[in-house]
Amino acid sequence: MPKERKYHEPLGVGFDTALTAIANAEKPTTLYAKPFLKWVGGKRSVLPELVKRMPPDYKKYNEPFLGGGALYFEVQPKRAYLSDINFHLIITFNAVRDDVDRLIRNLKIHEGKHSKEYYAKARKRLFTEKDPTKIAGLFIYLNKTCFNGLYRVNKSGQFNVPMGDYKNPLIVDEDNLYNCSQLLQGAEVAQHDFLQMKPTKGDFFYLDPPYHESYSQYDSNGFGDEGHKRLALFAREIDKKGGYFMVSNSDTPFVRELYKGYTIEVIRASRTVSCKAHQRGKENELIIRNYANKQGE
Ligand SMILES: C[S@@+](CC[C@H](N)C(=O)[O-])C[C@H]1O[C@@H](n2cnc3c(N)ncnc32)[C@H](O)[C@@H]1O
Repeated sequence: MPKERKYHEPLGVGFDTALTAIANAEKPTTLYAKPFLKWVGGKRSVLPELVKRMPPDYKKYNEPFLGGGALYFEVQPKRAYLSDINFHLIITFNAVRDDVDRLIRNLKIHEGKHSKEYYAKARKRLFTEKDPTKIAGLFIYLNKTCFNGLYRVNKSGQFNVPMGDYKNPLIVDEDNLYNCSQLLQGAEVAQHDFLQMKPTKGDFFYLDPPYHESYSQYDSNGFGDEGHKRLALFAREIDKKGGYFMVSNSDTPFVRELYKGYTIEVIRASRTVSCKAHQRGKENELIIRNYANKQGE
């Protein structure tokens, strides 16, 4: 008996279109999301150097010196634990994740009222406002309009950066905020010192502290040599527990000594912290890892 022949339903679309649809269904989706804050020490300019040195496989992504989170937004890990000591920064990340519609409405109000006088009032309100989403709105507004996107506080913890000289600062980047919000749904975000984080087997930790002998006024306590020593011990703890760490820091003999025995590589990076032109430009900095992978070797 002749075998029954099977026919496929016609696709109803061109062959190329069908192939593209199949390929896209397999691909993990990448959102267009970039840091929604300007941040001193932000890593956007060295992202290719960092990305190619990531471990090929890991369980959870951890970033305990979050700042603007440039590497996090680039890598877009499904599971992440993000933290920073900066209270306003973490309130803002939480508002972007959990209350983005109201945050955008609030930012539009700031955008409409922006002026020198309004900026001065907003600076004061940042420390009296109680509503977390409004705190986040003030924080993003000040970040987009202040001098160089600096975050600097005085001894009593008050934000004291003067207004920047921008013609049309982009205060509400609506699409980016929605995409960041979507990505952050997979992240836990917390405010604390890096040492409160628990090193765990198989997890990846990107450690990007205030650089040694560089800008460290992110909070009123500073970081200092003691901070770097504590961090190097924390990195050794990650290593002992079977996790992966990648550290960014200045190229100084002190830092090299702290991480002796690990993979230490030099990259060229632009320095953007200084307001003095002669202190800007390219500098050497270090990437230190407790593992090596082919691309990064
Ligand atoms: C170099 S910046 C991180 C930049 C970030 N990787 C980015 O791409 O924008 C250093 C961060 O460390 C935070 N920080 C300073 N001391 C800290 C501490 N003891 N524990 C946790 N975070 C701290 C600062 O608030 C700042 O956001």
